[in-house]
Amino acid sequence: MELLENETELVKKLCKRLLLEGDKKQNTRLSILDIGCGTGKLAIHLNEVTGGKVTAIDPVHERIATAKQKAHTNEVAFEVQSADKLNFADETFDVVVSLKALHEMTNLWDTLQESLRVLKAGGKIFVIDWIGGVTRTRSHSNAKKYFAIESKAHATKYFTMKRLEDELAKAGFAEVRVEANKECELMLAEGDKT
Ligand SMILES: C[S@@+](CC[C@H](N)C(=O)[O-])C[C@H]1O[C@@H](n2cnc3c(N)ncnc32)[C@H](O)[C@@H]1O
Repeated sequence: MELLENETELVKKLCKRLLLEGDKKQNTRLSILDIGCGTGKLAIHLNEVTGGKVTAIDPVHERIATAKQKAHTNEVAFEVQSADKLNFADETFDVVVSLKALHEMTNLWDTLQESLRVLKAGGKIFVIDWIGGVTRTRSHSNAKKYFAIESKAHATKYFTMKRLEDELAKAGFAEVRVEANKECELMLAEGDKT
């Protein structure tokens, strides 16, 4: 499945970072966990571009069923799980990623603690999500244009760049950095497990 136009800039940056992480590993492939994978777009893309082995989770059965139909390789595994209660052993993954999903996770603290737990020492988290602090993003303006509705419910749920940075640092990630895309609609946040 194609990435959306507004996702390509930061997903490209994410892939570059993952390729660098992959270079650090000798003769083993990067193991990546995608939390809130939906129908699997990012997970499949990351496997194709980085060659990493991707596990992707989402609590919605129908989305995981659709994702499984799309994946034509056993190097991408999809499971029904919630990010705040993961069924993986400690220190399983090199990287945790998430695309446009963290704002939907109601138990943020447990989600970030679980991400830390399943990351190996030296592992990294990368979160791409909408930038909040505005009443409406361009996509919500489109909702008005196409569906004649005023949709701002989601926009108010989004993290500001500062809040996402603070939440990652508070959870225990080190070297937290957040950057916006050119349109300042989406951000890429990253942090390290020390
Ligand atoms: C806007 S969709 C994004 C899906 C996908 N990452 C993409 O970009 O196409 C947000 C996803 O977060 C998932 N989600 C919500 N709560 C979750 C949780 N507790 N754990 C994992 N995923 C969750 C939803 O089921 C949904 O598939």
